[in-house]
Amino acid sequence: MPNPIPATLIPGDGIGPEIVDATLTALEALGAPFVWDRHVAGLAGVRSAGDPLPGPALDSIRRTRLALKGPLETPSGGGYRSSNVRLREEFQLYANLRPARTIIPGGRYDNIDLVVVRENLEGLYIGHEHYVRIDGDPHAVAMATGINTRQGSLRLLEFAFQHAIATGRRKVTIVHKANILKALTGMFLDTGVDLYERKYKGRFELETMIVDACAMKLVLNPWQFDMVVTTNLFGDVLSDLVAGLVGGLGMAPGGNIGEDAAIFEAVHGSAPDIAGKGIANPVALMLAAAMMLDHCKLPELAARLRKAIDDTLNLDKVRTADLGGSAGTDAFAKALVSRIRNG
Ligand code: NAI
Repeated sequence: MPNPIPATLIPGDGIGPEIVDATLTALEALGAPFVWDRHVAGLAGVRSAGDPLPGPALDSIRRTRLALKGPLETPSGGGYRSSNVRLREEFQLYANLRPARTIIPGGRYDNIDLVVVRENLEGLYIGHEHYVRIDGDPHAVAMATGINTRQGSLRLLEFAFQHAIATGRRKVTIVHKANILKALTGMFLDTGVDLYERKYKGRFELETMIVDACAMKLVLNPWQFDMVVTTNLFGDVLSDLVAGLVGGLGMAPGGNIGEDAAIFEAVHGSAPDIAGKGIANPVALMLAAAMMLDHCKLPELAARLRKAIDDTLNLDKVRTADLGGSAGTDAFAKALVSRIRNG
């Protein structure tokens, strides 16, 4: 039996509690050694503690340095700042890892296996925005500042290159917009090319690509990519695009990783349109749990979980509505558990 691993659990908003329950059932059946410390955040945090990121949740992650979280709702426009962005900043989770792999064959794109590594703390996401008033219009001009640092770019690129080697990736594509944002994304590009030349040349192939061309090529021929590494906003957009190649947001997991902590989650949001109906697809969060098992150096358990997901979807053909099936979240979890137990 592996040693118990304390971990923070944030069920989140909307479909969060439903997909978290399904994922916990799967982890329990696997015998995963997580000992959960459960806390609220997001809208649930506002409702119960008046704060989208209550202190006890933060203290728990400070202690466990490991979390699995459901989606947290953020109001668009006004309202509070994204709890997800605050969590990344608080724990300096500078790398966002978003693997995309075809699990259900026969879709528009078969045999996809690529990973997007996104810088998670800098760029336009720092949220330095303001309006300028002209005459009577207080919002006549809107301005945003993006900040990328050499040090921040370097640590993300080092993480990506190391991850490429550790996971046997043959090619890394640095994605940028240095023709227009010459300073902001040019510095990221230069830092990556220089790092490759100095330390990594010959260990994998490196290419560089402008973000708009990359978006087109990902749709026309995604198989030419293996790992995409890019700045915050481009990474946000491209990782959703890549999720679309493998069956949509219900299949896309993500890991937010720093030196001192790691938080795993589904890429999708709280899906308020289907919350409470028991029909959400829990696979993305289950795949995030598999990433968490890998992170905790439990690759056999991660592999068993991924295989059980594959078999439930493809051999048993138990699928939720977003995948064209009719199973509810609980029915999917039940079928998965019997795959885990019976192989
Ligand atoms: P969303 O990802 O919640 O939903 C987009 C569409 O995909 C909806 O039609 C939804 O029903 C569907 N969908 C998403 N996940 C699904 C699943 N597991 N199974 C079946 N269908 C699924 O994006 P939306 O509507 O833009 O955002 C809703 C809220 O979620 C917002 O408050 C947003 O800020 C938050 N959000 C939180 C994230 C996080 O905590 N990591 C990430 C993205 C959004």
